[in-house]
Amino acid sequence: MSFSRVENPCFLLFLVIFQAIFILILYRGGASSVFRGFLDVPQPLDYSKTEDVYTNLSLFIHAPDKETMPYCTPQSPIFVGPLTITFNTLPSERTIISKNPYVQLGGLYSPPHCLARYKTAVIIPHRNREKQLRHLLYYLHPFLQRQQLHYRIYLIHQARNGPFNQAKLLNVGVHEAMKDDDWDCLLLHNVNLIPENDYNLYVCDEYYPKHMSSAIDKLQYSLPYWSFFGGVSALTPEHYMKMNGFPNTYWDRGGEHDDIAERIRLAGMKIVRTPLHLGRYRMMNHGQISGFAETVKRPAVLHTRTTWKDDGMNSLEFKLLAKKLHPLYTNITVDIGDPPMLPPLSKTQESNI
Ligand SMILES: *[C@@H]1O[C@H](CO)[C@@H](O)[C@H](O)[C@H]1NC(C)=O
Ligand SMILES: *[C@@H]1O[C@H](CO)[C@@H](O)[C@H](O)[C@H]1NC(C)=O
Repeated sequence: MSFSRVENPCFLLFLVIFQAIFILILYRGGASSVFRGFLDVPQPLDYSKTEDVYTNLSLFIHAPDKETMPYCTPQSPIFVGPLTITFNTLPSERTIISKNPYVQLGGLYSPPHCLARYKTAVIIPHRNREKQLRHLLYYLHPFLQRQQLHYRIYLIHQARNGPFNQAKLLNVGVHEAMKDDDWDCLLLHNVNLIPENDYNLYVCDEYYPKHMSSAIDKLQYSLPYWSFFGGVSALTPEHYMKMNGFPNTYWDRGGEHDDIAERIRLAGMKIVRTPLHLGRYRMMNHGQISGFAETVKRPAVLHTRTTWKDDGMNSLEFKLLAKKLHPLYTNITVDIGDPPMLPPLSKTQESNI
């Protein structure tokens, strides 16, 4: 009776053995494998064995009765994990259309066999990247269908030849997409990135903005720096409005992603990230490597703290020139104006050139 539990030798022995086993597991597989085991279903991660993105997609056929159609299973029955991606041949538009018979005009899709649990708007800023776009559409349509999503692909086309403004185009895309439907998730997508694993879900995190392209091949499949938010991200409309959207004022110079990361923080949120083994992407180059450097260029000084409440969705101005429904996407053409005249360089800046 005088023994307390901790003093019981059997109990102590049990504790020591238990700890030894736990340490062994950690040592063998790393902490992430332990937690992955607890949190997720096992995922095939062998990137030397890949499957075609269209594998088993033809199993999704019309339910016999629309009225009694069940909700989609929480996890897709046809996931394969790592996908085969090549850029050797450019698929024709006709090919992509015929391989995706359930995609409707405007790049809209609802699963034919079940009621989708999520509605995702994919928003892609675009100008003069027709080949990359074609590759992306070939892979992205079946990828989204594998995930049993209700989705629509929006292309935001910047008219005229002024400097490109990716972040402002995304603001326009969100503004226009929200007129069409009550989207659960805004999936903001570079045209030159292709997801490599169908377990990388194109749905939003409930609480925080999600950065999805955490492992890009051209960046050695690792994050270039801890606050990196470029490439592909997923925000709910609530997240997006809470941070006043993205800045409208970054023209042609990259760096807007750091402003965006800072906005997320200032709006009281944080970035969640798709784990590196799932958030893998292939990046397409456009001629030279130049556009690529932009992705990871960081501005010297950020003024987000003083600008974010006045620069964003609440100050967005643009001219909608056209909204055309293509068989594979909705093409929204906008005039977003020109950058303000740059102030003349100061003496110190000049001497740095
Ligand atoms: C998908 O296709 C493969 C063959 O490519 C087959 O082995 C597998 O069982 C299929 N999966 C389902 C869920 O039908
Ligand atoms: C989108 O529409 C604009 C204007 O109508 C057009 O110039 C552009 O080529 C279109 N882009 C694509 C990829 O369809």
